[in-house]
Amino acid sequence: MQLPNKHLSKLDCDILYHLGFDTVKHDLPAMFGDIKFVCMGGTKYRMKDVAAHISQLLNIPCDFNNMVKQAKRYVMYKVGPVLCVNHGIGIPSMTVVLEEVLKMLFYAKAKDPIFFRLGTSGGMGIPAGSVVISSWAMNGTLEKIYDLPILGKTKTFPAIFDQRLNQELYSIACHEDYNTYVGGTMTANDFYRGEGRTDGAFCDYTESDKMDFLQTLVGLGVKNLEMEATAFSAITKEAGLRAAELCITFLDRLLGDQVTPDGQTLSQWQKRPAIIVGKYIEAYYNTKK
Ligand code: URA
Repeated sequence: MQLPNKHLSKLDCDILYHLGFDTVKHDLPAMFGDIKFVCMGGTKYRMKDVAAHISQLLNIPCDFNNMVKQAKRYVMYKVGPVLCVNHGIGIPSMTVVLEEVLKMLFYAKAKDPIFFRLGTSGGMGIPAGSVVISSWAMNGTLEKIYDLPILGKTKTFPAIFDQRLNQELYSIACHEDYNTYVGGTMTANDFYRGEGRTDGAFCDYTESDKMDFLQTLVGLGVKNLEMEATAFSAITKEAGLRAAELCITFLDRLLGDQVTPDGQTLSQWQKRPAIIVGKYIEAYYNTKK
């Protein structure tokens, strides 16, 4: 893999601050040169569960040693060629760790790793517990872009996912006993008003304004609302890598705002994206063995 930032070659040592690695003290090629897949998701616990699932599937032991413990920020588990990393909530938390993982794998000379985001979301007119594979993401002003202010000017990047990878994932998912949809995702910068909820600490619009907005999204092909997809698709694409996002839906936002299923149900549902991604990785791993 290559990274387009020419400044990196001028650094004698690159400190990956939020991971607690640097290019002098750590032999990144020995540690991560074999990485072929990166699974990311919000919480530490979900990513540990994903690592356990992959470990069982590929029959590769995992010591569940958090490799980035020293930085006291995120978790990272390695299971053979698969890296499982959490990213917290929202775009800034996600892009910090994503950019450092990209640099880490670049220094490690990893070969074209594929990135997956296994997330949670609110569904749009689909049953809770469904999986959505994102074909594109739109921001809060309904543009299919990731917009980032850089040196005082807003720069925009396309937020489109890899169609072929999505088809491959869907061909696995369609055999599972829950619904999977391929469709658009809206990425909000806020869980409450940003996702059109009326149950936050503040609300300055009516229930009917909210429903009009949600129906507009449905009309545009949006299948779920979450908080990272625009940046995740744009940044992985800028790095020249294939990436997909698979989210479980915790509720149908056309029916309400609150996440009502009990913890056990939510934990069971959260395994669904990992089951699909696990089968994809397993098929690849078995052909290469
Ligand atoms: N995550 C979100 O961003 N929204 C939801 O409704 C559920 C999970």
